[in-house]
Amino acid sequence: MGELRRTLYALVETGYQGYPPGRAFDIALVAVILVNIAATAMATVPGTDAQTLAIYRAIEWCAVAIFTVEYLIRAWVSTEDPRARISSPWRWRIRYLVTPLAIIDLIAILPSYIELITGSAWEFTLILRVLRLFKLLRFTGAFDTIFAVISSERRPLLATFSVIAIILLLISTMAYVAEREAQPDKFGSIPAAFYWGVVTLATVGYGDIAPVTPLGRAIGALGAVLGILTFAMPAGIIASGFMEELRRRDFIVTWQLVAKVPLFRRLTAARIASVALVLRPLRVEAGAAVVKRNEDADGMYFVVTGELTVEVPGHPVTLTGGDFFGEMALLEGGNRSTTVRAVTACELLHLGAADFRQLVSGAPDLEAEIRRVAHERRLDNRASTSERDPA
Ligand code: CMP
Repeated sequence: MGELRRTLYALVETGYQGYPPGRAFDIALVAVILVNIAATAMATVPGTDAQTLAIYRAIEWCAVAIFTVEYLIRAWVSTEDPRARISSPWRWRIRYLVTPLAIIDLIAILPSYIELITGSAWEFTLILRVLRLFKLLRFTGAFDTIFAVISSERRPLLATFSVIAIILLLISTMAYVAEREAQPDKFGSIPAAFYWGVVTLATVGYGDIAPVTPLGRAIGALGAVLGILTFAMPAGIIASGFMEELRRRDFIVTWQLVAKVPLFRRLTAARIASVALVLRPLRVEAGAAVVKRNEDADGMYFVVTGELTVEVPGHPVTLTGGDFFGEMALLEGGNRSTTVRAVTACELLHLGAADFRQLVSGAPDLEAEIRRVAHERRLDNRASTSERDPA
């Protein structure tokens, strides 16, 4: 049973990590969601004949059956999540069921069962049915980011929405005062003027309700200008929040990589943080030359995973996780002494020349260690040259 649960967990939850059966499952599910939404939309086209409608309904029920099985499987295997506490699997399952993604999955199947039980019209649950599109969020990977951004920016967002609400109320009240006698049917009350206020502030301006008095028009113009200023604010906050969140994620990834390099163990947490800001993670494919002999030096590299070979003539040297290279040209200000080539796919961290100087200026023992290694390598290379060429 445990084995089956583990296999199913890998199938339904780890597709994004590149596990091939998991990816196939994700792709199949996305296809079912899209076909189902398309069928729901097409079924509203007037004049569709009964036979075609029956096909759409068959698609609907197949999709609901698939989503139901998927929902139950996800709930059952949620205890395989590495964060789950095995001591209380049912409590963990309930915790999973109230996560946003699980609630979306439930919303995706609920309308059809409501329809089945209550016998209500198909159209009644149509809007809930279209919400199935939200299931796709699971596969875009954007869900966490959107939530994190809205959560971290909630204060400024709330502040701008409050400002918008105050301006809206003010503009609508002023328009009501200015226009209520000229157009009692359109500006007869503040709630009636509210609709005009929203359309004006959002700078949509349908024109179905428009002020006619000079004062009313002046208020309308003011509303449109204020609308441009205030409606732009939430968009700006969310955009900068996204940038910040992405930068933070990059930083965490880099930090985790930095922690794997022994050379940095001697640094304090504060210095690791500043190093993580300037190091750039880099993936290279097997066979690629990372630095080439005689090239200009733009920085040095730390190996996180993978294997590289330093093409020292006569005795190639292997570098693996925790090693570094490219320091010799940086220290001497010259060109690369040797070519370094990836033997397998590698994860590296690149440190630019200027950042290198700044880093070592604040950590003398780090510089001493890098210099010591560079010195040994130079001696090593000289020895191998004289071995090959004794004259
Ligand atoms: P650099 O000269 O900048 O570029 C090539 C790099 O290969 C060099 O810095 C060293 O980091 C590395 N390297 C050169 N010789 C050796 C060696 N004998 N052992 C390990 N690494 C070396």
